[in-house]
Amino acid sequence: MHVAMIGTGYVGLVSGACFADFGHIVTCIDKDAGKIERLKSGGIPIYEPGLDKLVAQNVQAGRLFFDTDAAEAVKKADAVFIAVGTPSRRGDGHADLSYVHAAAEEVAKLVDGFTVLVTKSTVPVGTGDEIEAIVKRVRPEADVAVVSNPEFLREGAAIEDFKRPDRVVVGTDDDRAREVMRELYRPLYLNETPILFTGRRTSELIKYAANAFLAMKITFINEVADLCEAVGADVQQVARGIGLDNRIGGKFLHAGPGYGGSCFPKDTLALVQTARQYGAPIDLVETTVKVNDERKKAMAQKVIRAVDGQDLSGRTIGVLGLTFKPNTDDMRDAPSLDIVPALQAAGAKVQAFDPEGHEARQMLADVDFKDSPYDVAEGADALVIITEWDQFRALDLDRIKLLMKRPVMVDLRNIYKPDDMKARGFAYTSVGRPGV
Ligand code: UDX
Repeated sequence: MHVAMIGTGYVGLVSGACFADFGHIVTCIDKDAGKIERLKSGGIPIYEPGLDKLVAQNVQAGRLFFDTDAAEAVKKADAVFIAVGTPSRRGDGHADLSYVHAAAEEVAKLVDGFTVLVTKSTVPVGTGDEIEAIVKRVRPEADVAVVSNPEFLREGAAIEDFKRPDRVVVGTDDDRAREVMRELYRPLYLNETPILFTGRRTSELIKYAANAFLAMKITFINEVADLCEAVGADVQQVARGIGLDNRIGGKFLHAGPGYGGSCFPKDTLALVQTARQYGAPIDLVETTVKVNDERKKAMAQKVIRAVDGQDLSGRTIGVLGLTFKPNTDDMRDAPSLDIVPALQAAGAKVQAFDPEGHEARQMLADVDFKDSPYDVAEGADALVIITEWDQFRALDLDRIKLLMKRPVMVDLRNIYKPDDMKARGFAYTSVGRPGV
């Protein structure tokens, strides 16, 4: 099959490379000429483990191409995917669909013969109908079926998630489109991956409902963690104790500083807006958004309590990890973006290290960026772990302790054990676990 992928962000680039690896002929298209040039010369604009190799192999095999101009690829395509950004619109939290609409309009002008136009971007319920209307307006005679095919991949595990997903969701009522989608995902059929065919609006809602549910699950365990601290219980054991119940499931029950990233914050907000707009508000998700926002800011209080102060004036706080989660360079809505300013507002001088979060330098003011965890520890009154990069799990703690002014560790991801840390002479605070 011939595929045109409009948009080479995380989702577009990974999906394009994986479809090429399935054996299809794929052209990834982006308006950003610099990005396309970089991709053509073997560079990858994002950090995603394994993606560089996958792209290189498929380029070499003659299955993966890059272009700034959509014309040729769209003409040949059996399926055109729209994988452009849908950021939160400033002010109201609605998803900004201007890029999606522009892409639909452009594709409508270019298609030749029956073409499946697929939204991979996360789009609010009803967007498929809007795209259909755009196509009808621009080219009434075009033979196009508009399909919803949301993407559930996680950053940092994107290739694995795309190639071995729990399920694929395809929203369409069109038989010809169903056949094209089946053919595109054929290797997954062989793996017995469930492919769920639904109506288009249902498919669009599945994506939001899934992300909102996961965000709610994380927020639930975070609140339970606070309760654990108050009553002297251990949230990790509570998570295991409830997660072994198959109806609950053990995943996404790691208590931490609050969820961040390019999806959960934006998608929960957009779902809240859609639900209100249709007069069916979802209170649980509205509360999730509020609790998570407050939680990120409240983490600074934990640090203040750990250093035994009224505030953090005159203190140096070392921060390990700034990206919203490990194995990504993505800083979007990262908890660090709330926590670090809150530490500074409490009077602290902050020094920080992240292996890939280079953009933090533009996003966080007055932070002293260091080149290693040990440089961050030097002279610090407390060390705060915000993101659980693997390299922070294997620190030379004796060296860290010697470098610090005072051996205070605030571990917001529970990567160390309280009794071990105590034995090593640290004043150690974590999330939802009793001190020793
Ligand atoms: C998420 C969804 O998992 C994915 O299906 C969807 O398509 C896009 O959004 P992603 O944003 O890449 O993927 O990251 P994910 O691993 O889900 O983590 C999101 C946030 O939740 C991170 O800030 C992470 O640290 C936090 N989290 C996750 C927790 O705090 N606890 C958990 O148990 C799991």
